[in-house]
Amino acid sequence: MTQSITLRQPDDWHLHLRDGAMLHAVLPETARHFARAIIMPNLVPPVVTAAHARAYHDRIVAALPDGTRFTPLMTLYLTEDTDPDDVAAAHASGLVHAVKLYPAGATTNSASGVSNFDTVRPVLDRMAEIGLPLCVHGEVTDPEIDIFDREAVFIDHVLDPIRRATPGLRVIMEHITTRDAVDYARAQDDTLGATITTHHLVINRNHILAGGIKPHYYCLPVAKREEHRLALRAAATSGEARFFLGTDSAPHTDDNKLQPCGCAGCFTATNTMSILAQVFEDDGALDQLERFSALNGPTFYKLPPNDATITLTKTGATYPAHIDTPDGPVTVFDPGFDLNWAVT
Ligand code: NCD
Ligand code: ZN
Repeated sequence: MTQSITLRQPDDWHLHLRDGAMLHAVLPETARHFARAIIMPNLVPPVVTAAHARAYHDRIVAALPDGTRFTPLMTLYLTEDTDPDDVAAAHASGLVHAVKLYPAGATTNSASGVSNFDTVRPVLDRMAEIGLPLCVHGEVTDPEIDIFDREAVFIDHVLDPIRRATPGLRVIMEHITTRDAVDYARAQDDTLGATITTHHLVINRNHILAGGIKPHYYCLPVAKREEHRLALRAAATSGEARFFLGTDSAPHTDDNKLQPCGCAGCFTATNTMSILAQVFEDDGALDQLERFSALNGPTFYKLPPNDATITLTKTGATYPAHIDTPDGPVTVFDPGFDLNWAVT
C-alpha cells in the first residue's frame, strides 16, 4: 500500500485572497503548500486596471510570511469600460496572466461585471491576438433561471457564442459543477480549460440542504446533484490536460456566513491537498494527482511546472476547525471524513 507520494509543488488556478487583515490571515494557508496562484480580482472596488493589479500584487508580496516563496499571478476584472491597450500592456509586462469575466450580479462583488457582452468584444479580440486567457464565472444571472441550471444555461447562451465570436480566445471555465460543463469541455479543442474545486469533488446539494442547512457548504456556483459530483470526480482524476485545480478558496468570516442572507464561499486553502489526496486515493487515481494539481494548469497557462516538490505521507492529517482573523474566525471546510494524508 502506498504510504507516501512526492509531487511537483502544486499551484492554485483560482484563489480569493481578499485584502488588508484578511489577506494577512489567509495568505499563509495557501503559501504553505502552493507555489503560485491565480488571484481573483473581486475586491471592493475591483482590480480593474494594470495599476490596480500592480498595487495589489505588491500588497500580497508584502503580506507573505518571512522566507515564504509564493508567486501571485494577477488577473484583471473585466468591465464594460476595460481598455484593451491597458490589458495588453499589463500582459506584456508579465504582471497579468488572465482577465476575469463575471456576469454582473453572478456572485460576491460582481456588481461591476459585464451585462452586455458585445461591449467587451474589442478586449476579447485583443486577448485572442496576444494569447491572454479569459477566466469565466459561468453562470447566467437571469432571475427566471433556476439556480441549479445557471451553469448549463450559461454554456449554451453565453459561453459558446463568445467562443464562436472570438476564435482562438483561450478560455477557462472556472469552478465547473456539472456534467454538462465536463461534457462541453471535453468536446472542445485545447483553447478551452476548466478548473475544478476541492469542495465540488466532495459535496453535492444534499450536503448543503438535507438534515438542516449548512451555510459553510454554500458557495457559488452551488453544488449540484450527486451525478454531477461524480462527473467532476471522473474528470479530475482522469489526468486529462484540460482539467486542473482551482480551489476557489473564498474566505468569509463566520459572522458573514451565518446570516439570514449569508455569503457564498468555502474556505479550503488549509486542507485542500490532504482532501485531494484522499479523493484521488479513494478513486484509485493517486498517480493522477500531480497532473491535476501541478502539471495541467501550468501547461494551459503556458508556464513551466514548479521545480520544487511536496511530499504527502499517510500519517493522518489534522487541521484547525477555523483560522483566526482580526475580523473574526473563518471556518475551514470540513470534508466530512478523516484525512489520512498529511503534507510533510
Ligand atoms: C467567491 C467569493 O466569495 O469571492 N464566492 C464563491 O462562492 N465562490 C466568488 C466566486 O468565485 O464566485
Ligand atoms: Zn471564485
